[in-house]
Amino acid sequence: MDFPKKVTIVEVGPRDGLQNEKEFVPTATKIELVNRLVDAGAPKIEAASFVSPKWVPQMADAAEVMQGIERKSGVVYAALTPNVRGLEGALANGADEVVIFGAASEAFSQKNINCSIAESIERFVDVARLAKEAGVLLRASISTSFGCPYQGEVPIESVLDVVKRMQDLGCDEIDIADTIGVGTAAQVYEVMSRVTDIVAKEKIAGHFHDTYGQALANIVASLQAGISIYHSSVAGLGGCPYAKGATGNVATEDVLYMLHGMGIETGMDLDKTVQIGQWISDQIGRQNASRVGRALIAKCAA
Ligand code: HMG
Ligand code: MG
Repeated sequence: MDFPKKVTIVEVGPRDGLQNEKEFVPTATKIELVNRLVDAGAPKIEAASFVSPKWVPQMADAAEVMQGIERKSGVVYAALTPNVRGLEGALANGADEVVIFGAASEAFSQKNINCSIAESIERFVDVARLAKEAGVLLRASISTSFGCPYQGEVPIESVLDVVKRMQDLGCDEIDIADTIGVGTAAQVYEVMSRVTDIVAKEKIAGHFHDTYGQALANIVASLQAGISIYHSSVAGLGGCPYAKGATGNVATEDVLYMLHGMGIETGMDLDKTVQIGQWISDQIGRQNASRVGRALIAKCAA
C-alpha cells in the first residue's frame, strides 16, 4: 500500500481538548501544555480559541495563553476565529494561523456558531480577507462531515459544497472533521477521495474524534486517500460543547504509535508525548484516554 512517508500532526489538545472542560483549567497549565507539546515536536498546535466567552467560557483566557507561551521558530501556533472580533484578537496576540470553522450540516452550524451555513460563509469573507492582508495562514474546519448529532446523515454533496466555498475564501488548509466520531473507514475513504478531486490533497487534513472507536481506522482510510495532515489531542482530551456525548479527538499517542509502526515519520517524540498525556490527565483529574499512553505507562511501572 502506498502511504505518505511523512505526516504532519496538528496537536489540538490545548483547544479542542480543553474547551469542553467544566472546571476552568488554569492559564498557567494551558501554557505549560502548549510548551511541552512543542518540546515533544508538535509542528503545529491549536493553542487557543478567540470565541465568545459566553459560548465557551474555558477559552476566555485565549489572549493570556497566546502571550504566555514560549515561541519556537518554525512551529505554527493556531487559534480559532469565528468572526472579525476573534480574528483581531488572534492577530493582536501573535497567531501564525487562524481557523474559521463551519459545518456541513445546517443544524450543527446553528448550534455551534448561531447562524446558517450561508451566513457563516458571509461572515468568513472579512475574516479571510483580513487574515490574508495580515499574512497569516488561513485554515477552515468543516464540522459534521461524516454525520451530525442533530441531522444524522450528511450527504457528501453538502461537504463538497462547503469545501468549495472555503476554497473560494482562499483557505490554505481545510479540515474535514468527524465532530462526533461516527464515520467508518469506507465512508471516510469515499469522502476524502471526493474532496481531493476538487482540492489538492496536501491541503486537506483529517480531524477525527474517537467517540465510536473508529478514528485510527479512519486515519488509515484517509492515508489510503493520500491525506497527510491529521489532528489529534494528547491523552485523547476533549469533546465538543455543541455535540452532546462527543468524546475527545483521537489521542496523539495512539496516532504516533500507529504511524511510527507503519514507518511513517511525524517528527514527534512518542515517549515525551506519553508523559505529557499523563501529566495533563492528572492536572484536570481525568483518566488518560490514550490506550497507548496507558499501556506504555503500565509497562514502565511493571
Ligand atoms: P452570537 O451570540 O450569535 O453573536 O455568537 P454575537 O455577535 O451576538 O455575540 C454574543 C456575545 O459574544 C457578545 O457579547 C459579543 O460581543 C461576544 P455581549 O454583547 O452579549 O456582551 N463576542 C465575542 N467575544 C469574544 N470573542 C469573540 C466574540 N464574538 C462575539 N470572537 C459566535 C456567535 C460565533 C461569536 C458564537 O456562536 C461563538 O463564539 N461560537 C463558538 C462556538 C465554539 O467555540 N465551538 C467550539 C469550537 S468548534 C469545534 O470544536 C469543532 C472543531 O473541533 C471541528 C470538529 O470537531 O468538528 C473545530
Ligand atoms: Mg473537534
